[in-house]
Amino acid sequence: MRRITKEFPGVRANDGIDLSVTSGEIHGLLGENGAGKSVLMSILYGMHQPDSGEIEVGGSPVRIRNPAVAIRLGIGMVHQHFMLIPNMTVAENVVLGFEPGGPLLRRQEIEQRVAQMAAEARLQVSPGTPVEQLSVGARQRVEILKVLYRRAQILILDEPTAVLTPQETEELFVTMRALRAQGKTIIFIAHKLKEVMAICDRMTVLRKGRLVGTVEVGNTSEAELAEMMVGAKVVPASRTEAAKIGEVVLRVTDLTVEGARGERVIDGLKLELRAGEVLGIAGVEGNGQAELVEVLTGLRRPRGGQVLLNGTDIAGTSPRAALDHGIRCIPEDRHKLAIIPDFSVQENLILGDHYRPPFKGPGSWLRERVIREFADRQILEFQIQTPSRETPVRSLSGGNQQRMVVARVYGQGRVPALVVAAQPTRGLDVQAIRYVQDKLLQLSDRGAAVLLISADLDEVIAISDRILVIYQGRLSETSGSPSRHELGLLMTGGRA
Ligand SMILES: Nc1ncnc2c1ncn2[C@@H]1O[C@H](COP(=O)(O)OP(=O)(O)OP(=O)(O)O)[C@@H](O)[C@H]1O
Ligand SMILES: [Mg+2]
Repeated sequence: MRRITKEFPGVRANDGIDLSVTSGEIHGLLGENGAGKSVLMSILYGMHQPDSGEIEVGGSPVRIRNPAVAIRLGIGMVHQHFMLIPNMTVAENVVLGFEPGGPLLRRQEIEQRVAQMAAEARLQVSPGTPVEQLSVGARQRVEILKVLYRRAQILILDEPTAVLTPQETEELFVTMRALRAQGKTIIFIAHKLKEVMAICDRMTVLRKGRLVGTVEVGNTSEAELAEMMVGAKVVPASRTEAAKIGEVVLRVTDLTVEGARGERVIDGLKLELRAGEVLGIAGVEGNGQAELVEVLTGLRRPRGGQVLLNGTDIAGTSPRAALDHGIRCIPEDRHKLAIIPDFSVQENLILGDHYRPPFKGPGSWLRERVIREFADRQILEFQIQTPSRETPVRSLSGGNQQRMVVARVYGQGRVPALVVAAQPTRGLDVQAIRYVQDKLLQLSDRGAAVLLISADLDEVIAISDRILVIYQGRLSETSGSPSRHELGLLMTGGRA
């Protein structure tokens, strides 16, 4: 890609970027939130047309008018936001649009073929399962298979590890190495420098739409990459003053939640959280965290137990009532639960407060001026990169969508009683991670009880006052300041 430039109203997303990727390499693409990584890759995949610049594939100049052309050229992309059809099976999704022998599906044949491809790429999937029953990690494997099925030689993976557990990330790396050994080329977007250093041969860094440089893994370090990305060193977040711990805000006793097949996903869970305290819950995803968050935010009725918020039992309450009780949440699944992509930034910023003053006026009127001023303040304070408050949230970069969600927890400055933060820094760049973690500490300093649910041990250790580990729907205590090793053992069902 040579001198690629792409403007959107109000932003130059790519400004004269050069990127060259050699056949058979894993090439990292790095940069802060909004640096232009996804846009550059969407251009390569034919989803956007550059305003200027040239692309060559295998030495010949090409014009990639749409994804169909990209696919014909052997380019495939796995997006930050998955694009599968939930009620179709794995195999059906994989062959969709490219069915062997026309639109009449020969189920057995395609399932066999998909199974074979999966084995070659060392991807674990079961071809006959409907996609809606799969975990996020498994869905991603389906997306990768889909790209391979279309005979991609160049695979673009846009932040694949942001949604994976550490174990799943390791499995993805096995697949990526297997694909490289088959001579495929991979462009890998990620924010975690450890991951990039572990898997890439070379990496290219973007900053604010421009190329900073391309380096080889053998000739660089995490520190150098961080500096290329942000132009300065980033110090991890931590408490600067001792926590001022107050009264018990949340007391959960004997909480039991059943899954779709009647199995216990939360099993007699007990916890206590005080004002001003950050309680970290470490754990591999899928051990009941999502269900706990749903109970606390009124999205799910528990089978049994009590959830006392400042003394009132809110088990089985509605989401609206949970908001009214002062519970604020940073949900884990941003697209499903945190944003309305087609709504503007300002509309998204007031969600959850839109039904009461100062945003709601008499009758069903919204007070536009108040909302506009509020949105402008939040955009400025939370450094949300957006051309305007009217921009639909769908066109913000992933990290900037997340900043918007965090800004909403702050709302109009009223301190929430309880903040439930589930994987709050996922998909954020190093500076934004620091920013969000500082904001959570600040909320606790102002008296909020903060429940931090995270699969990122560094994060849990850095900002929690106390750490519990969740495993198969039960919590275990840890020693005063547990080591990564101790946490790791508890997370996998061992004893510390
Ligand atoms: N369809 C679009 N319409 C308008 N602006 C867009 C569109 N797509 C991207 N942008 C803007 O282009 C800039 C670069 O966005 P891009 O998605 O490439 O960032 P990124 O490097 O992938 O960041 P992240 O790490 O947060 O995913 C951002 O300012 C974004 O708001
Ligand atoms: Mg992106």
